[in-house]
Amino acid sequence: MPPAPRKAIFPVGGLGTRFLPVTKALPKEMLPVVDKPLIQYAVEEARAAGIEEFIFVTGRGKSAIEDHFDHSYELRDTLMARDKKAELDALEDMLLEPGQVAYIRQQEPLGLGHAVWCARHMIHGEPVAVLSADDLVLSEVPCLKQVIDAYMEVGGNLAAVMDVPREHTDRYGILDVVADDGRLVEARGLVEKPAPADAPSTLSIIGRYILDPTVFDELGRQETGAGGEIQLTDAMARTIGRVPFHGLRFEGRRFDCGSKAGFLEANVAYALERDDLRAEMREIVRRYADPAEG
Ligand code: G1P
Repeated sequence: MPPAPRKAIFPVGGLGTRFLPVTKALPKEMLPVVDKPLIQYAVEEARAAGIEEFIFVTGRGKSAIEDHFDHSYELRDTLMARDKKAELDALEDMLLEPGQVAYIRQQEPLGLGHAVWCARHMIHGEPVAVLSADDLVLSEVPCLKQVIDAYMEVGGNLAAVMDVPREHTDRYGILDVVADDGRLVEARGLVEKPAPADAPSTLSIIGRYILDPTVFDELGRQETGAGGEIQLTDAMARTIGRVPFHGLRFEGRRFDCGSKAGFLEANVAYALERDDLRAEMREIVRRYADPAEG
């Protein structure tokens, strides 16, 4: 059995241009779904999957993320003075242990593969998880936990996958499938953002990965791919033959929070999950679903 991943990389250097103007001064990872920023969902998921070291690959204008995971003495004093116990506990719970968090700066936006490569000196030949805060997964078992459990069976490189409509293949890393048992899929190749007509399948990578250390050797070659960027998909593809690549069809509902519609849908879905909001939210959704009544 391979060792369980203990470290996770969170690439948070992206400019978030699709969400301008809100992302002009606010990192897109700080956009809230109900009352929690996207990045906190990703960190909590990693924590629930047993991750002990959290490595954020940031960029300019992202300091709100660092502040979010730090103490806020002013806020704490104010909440204490007002006897707001529940709020204090919630803030205390989300803090990571001293030394568990590291921030690395990606100086230039050269692609997801480059962002991951920026963390290479912190990995020390171990398998490492990568989580994209854009992909939010609502599930009973945290998505990364499902991915790690599958990784413990097969090792190598592994990513969460799902079927997408063929017209969307140019948004994702796509698997060239060699074996498929309905849950785990083995790939003989991967293609980053192929045109629908060229896609070897419609099985797409979503932002939960476990990387074998060999991927960092490939990333070190700094080869560019789709969009002129250094692609994580290409580096994983080049290790096939040395280590296997598997996709896991995970259980859960995934929201593409890198798109406006996906982000808005996530807000509705997560609000409907909440006991304190469900009834009101149902009423709102019902009202807007039938404009005649609105
Ligand atoms: C990245 C990856 C792509 C993957 C996607 C999942 O693309 O390059 O392979 O399918 O994340 O969300 P991006 O969305 O950053 O363009």
